[in-house]
Amino acid sequence: MTTHIIALGGSLLRPEESDERSAWFGRLRQLAVHLEGNGRKLGIVVGGGLPAREGITLARSSFTDSYRLDMVGIAATRLNASILQQTLLDIGCDVCPIIPTSTDEAAELLGEHHIVIMGGTTPGHTTDAVAVALARDSGSAHLVIATNVSHVYDSDPRTNENAKPFETMTLAELAEITGTEALEPGASAAVDPIAVKWAMEAGLKIAVLDGRNLSLLEDALEGRPFEGTLIQ
Ligand code: UTP
Repeated sequence: MTTHIIALGGSLLRPEESDERSAWFGRLRQLAVHLEGNGRKLGIVVGGGLPAREGITLARSSFTDSYRLDMVGIAATRLNASILQQTLLDIGCDVCPIIPTSTDEAAELLGEHHIVIMGGTTPGHTTDAVAVALARDSGSAHLVIATNVSHVYDSDPRTNENAKPFETMTLAELAEITGTEALEPGASAAVDPIAVKWAMEAGLKIAVLDGRNLSLLEDALEGRPFEGTLIQ
């Protein structure tokens, strides 16, 4: 049975417009039902998005220890994971009722359920790295990182209008852009450097695409050409 591992950026759960938000959740439900109906397994790792940023900012006014700030971020990822878990349980999908706290546990639970949804695990990385670890532990050769940019770029497209998108690249090329040192709590990058490091160690392929348009995610999961960056 095919198992798909998806890192779903937390920012995707809260597009600014509420209309877009309901449309996005509707499309996600449809995709989950379709994939489950075709006998696929889904391991979804949800990011912390806005609650993580808010929580970490709030906590920083009281303490600065990175480990503790990361723990606050992890709580936010688990909050978002619960929202998605309850959404899919609500329409009768075979979703694991537990939110696992490790990728070992999640890989095991994928043996019992079609869909397992989780957030972060331990301090020192983001949910991108958790998705890489889950792909490794569940024997998947690839994973999809669904985020809110269209591609990996050679520099930050928010600050450099000449930034060039990659259609394909190697993990070594990606590591040159991201580095392999852990990010600060709450800091964001195209792909988490620790995720890149672990993907190199495990020899995994990664697709990075814009998860605001879930048709792109479906294309990648169905093995069709997709708009985004293929990293191998
Ligand atoms: P995210 O995975 O949400 O980071 O984790 P992100 O890259 O900002 O992703 P988006 O914006 O949701 O797409 C949020 C924070 O939670 C802590 C880190 O501090 C991270 O910055 N975290 C998360 C961990 O320490 N360990 C984890 O396994 C996951």
